[in-house]
Amino acid sequence: ADSDLQLVARRIRSFPDFPVPGVLFRDISPVLKDPDSFRASIRLLTNHLKETHGGKIDYIVGLDSRGFLFGPSLAQELGLGCVLIRKRGKLPGPTVSASYTLEYGKAELEIQRDALEPGQKVVVVDDLLATGGTMHAACELLGQLRAEVLECVSLVELTSLKGREKLGAVPVFSLLQYD
Ligand code: PRP
Ligand code: MG
Repeated sequence: ADSDLQLVARRIRSFPDFPVPGVLFRDISPVLKDPDSFRASIRLLTNHLKETHGGKIDYIVGLDSRGFLFGPSLAQELGLGCVLIRKRGKLPGPTVSASYTLEYGKAELEIQRDALEPGQKVVVVDDLLATGGTMHAACELLGQLRAEVLECVSLVELTSLKGREKLGAVPVFSLLQYD
C-alpha cells in the first residue's frame, strides 16, 4: 500500500514559469481533489503535532487563503479550534496588523485583537513555505497578542528560499521539501 507521504507527494503538481518567468509553481489543488490524499495530509500533520506537542496546543492558526484549506480540518482532527489570520481589510472589529514583503511590493496580514489571550499556545498552518515572509508576519502578529507559537507547519517547503532561516527560533515542519 502507498504511504501517506506518497499519497500526498503524487498529488503536488508543478507548473514552470507561474506566476512569473523562472518560478516553478507547486500546486496543491490535486491534494484537495483526492480525498485519500487530503486525508493523508491531515493525518501526517496531526501525527506530527501530537508526537511533538502532546496536548499542549490551544489553537491552530490558519493563514489566508490557502492555509484555510487545511487549518480547520487539522484543528478538528486534534480536537481544537481554528483561528484565522486574514489579508488586510477582511476582519471586523479591532485588529492588529503586520506587513510583509512579496515578490512585488508589500502586503499586510491581520488578526482580531481578541482572537487569542496572552500565553495561549498555537501552531500556524499554511499550504507552502517559500521565503517565509507570510509565516514571519503571522508570527509577528501572534507575538503582538502575546500568544506563543509552538511551531509553523506546511505541506510544502521550498528549501532554497530559506524560509526556515527567516523564522529564526520558531520550529518549522513540512511534509514535502523541494529545492
Ligand atoms: C502563497 C502560499 C503561502 C505564501 C508562501 O500565498 O499560499 O501563503 O505564498 O510564500 P512566502 O513564504 O514567500 O511568504 P499567496 O500570498 O500567493 O496567497 P494565497 O494563499 O491567498 O493564494
Ligand atoms: Mg498563501
